Amino acid sequence: RPTELHQNSDKMEQEKKSQTTAEQMTDRDLSEQIKKVTMEIHTRAEKTELMMSFMRGQVTLAQYKLLLCSLYEVYQTLEEEMDRNSNHPGVAPIYFPTELARLDAIAKDLEYFYGRDWREKIVVPAATKRYCHRLRQIGKENPEFLVAHAYTRYLGDLSGGQVLGRIAQKSMGLKGSEGLSFFAFPGVSNPTLFKQLYRSRMNSVELTEEERNGMLEEAVRAFELNIQVFDDLQKMLLTVPEKKLQTCSTQSVNTLQIPI
Ligand code: HEM
Repeated sequence: RPTELHQNSDKMEQEKKSQTTAEQMTDRDLSEQIKKVTMEIHTRAEKTELMMSFMRGQVTLAQYKLLLCSLYEVYQTLEEEMDRNSNHPGVAPIYFPTELARLDAIAKDLEYFYGRDWREKIVVPAATKRYCHRLRQIGKENPEFLVAHAYTRYLGDLSGGQVLGRIAQKSMGLKGSEGLSFFAFPGVSNPTLFKQLYRSRMNSVELTEEERNGMLEEAVRAFELNIQVFDDLQKMLLTVPEKKLQTCSTQSVNTLQIPI
């Protein structure tokens, strides 16, 4: 018969085991892992000149308009690839077009700033083209990695993005919410709760070890692509006069011979 001491130590052993299992489970959660591996690069993204302008309350209309142009191209590609792969087992759990889709909102903002012929006025740097190219490649070859890209943009928009929207409004002296639809998520009444749901959906995706590692790499890459877009936008603002930015057409600015 086991002694009381034995029983106690068995109990402790069991508790320790279940504690370790619980810890391992959280450690194994994709949402935790992805947050951890992108922590450092998130700080780098926050420190880009463009994001710093936002944070200091100094974002200019020229900066914001250019950013919207690039976001339009990025979300057009991301959402097209998500729609096309919406039944893929790796994508379906995090497919929330009603709540998250940004394309129409950005189009509305672009029309507000550039007028009805905004489509002809969109100008994006080479980095934006590279970002879109990667999204298309992922959509074709590894649709499950779209999770890493959707996470980076949508959860970012639902987190720091909320603060940035309020700051942008003040900095540019915009009245009401005109030109700021991008920041508003009318389909998400509680961003914190929604992010919880999104994380649990991410964690429900079954991945092999190889796929999991690929996903984490892709998330870091997604942040890197965003940083490159922000840096290129700043360079464009330095080299292209505002007037030219407003009149040039849809091509990448590479074709305008701007050193990037
Ligand atoms: C989360 C701030 C830029 C992607 C967060 C959170 C804050 C924040 C405070 C945590 C929210 C929470 O825990 O509930 C900022 C600020 C930025 C910025 C101030 C710029 C000035 C960016 C950029 C990206 C990004 C450029 C990506 C393109 C994310 C993501 C999360 C996040 C994916 C969710 C992390 C997670 O919970 O797993 N951000 N952010 N952020 N941000 Fe940013």
